[in-house]
Amino acid sequence: MRIITASSTWNLTVVPNAFAMGGLAADIVADTVRVKPNAVVSVPTGTTPLTLFEELAARSRRGEIDLSRIELFCLDDYVGVTADDPNSLTGWLKSAFIDRAGIDPDHVHSVPAAATDLASATLAYERDLAALGGLDLAIVGLGPNGHVAYNEPGSLADSRTRVVSLTAESRAQAAAYWRHSVPIPRSAVTIGVGTLLDAKQIVLVVTGESKAEMLRRTLEERTSADVPASWLRLAKNRLMVITDEAAASRLSGRRVSHS
Ligand code: PGA
Repeated sequence: MRIITASSTWNLTVVPNAFAMGGLAADIVADTVRVKPNAVVSVPTGTTPLTLFEELAARSRRGEIDLSRIELFCLDDYVGVTADDPNSLTGWLKSAFIDRAGIDPDHVHSVPAAATDLASATLAYERDLAALGGLDLAIVGLGPNGHVAYNEPGSLADSRTRVVSLTAESRAQAAAYWRHSVPIPRSAVTIGVGTLLDAKQIVLVVTGESKAEMLRRTLEERTSADVPASWLRLAKNRLMVITDEAAASRLSGRRVSHS
């Protein structure tokens, strides 16, 4: 494992493969709940977190971790799609993670993507999160177009939970998971970049060669709305990036300030 650390800035840990990423991210979750059993946590959807979910489910089965008291905030979902819809990201998270890791379903806070009044519902989501003291640990993934949650290119660092239009690239990515013939929605509700930046700790998990160029842009180009994940660097030493060797293959180690 290569660790590049600097106390005043974000940390990058390069591990050999996706399984090692899942193990290390699980260790961070374990440390968080050891200190605060009712920690407020978010996890991403997608392929990247699967090794983390496997590891946490296994530790939970073996009685090594207790996630029953955490408050889990979902990051995003498609507008008009309810959690019981087969295409729901919240529904996907329920079967891939929540049900297997011993998380109390009453402690799951989905984004209000099926609300009739999305403006008030997204404000209420922010209020619920704030009432619990904000995120203690935000685990997030990196989209192929640089999105974080569904903060698509153009998203600003101070954006809050809101409705966004999905790019063609994100809709193509979603197609891999889409279960039936209704068209993939053109919009989603996503937690904001600013909402994520308020977290006490942020862990960005990235694996695979296909993400190498976007990870380089995220970490080594100037922070910008063109690559919304780059805003995470504003969290400085509250951000830890965990990546496998393949995704790290284009990193030069050069650090660029955000100004
Ligand atoms: P992926 O998605 O893990 O399936 O690549 C990441 C994301 O879009 O956040």
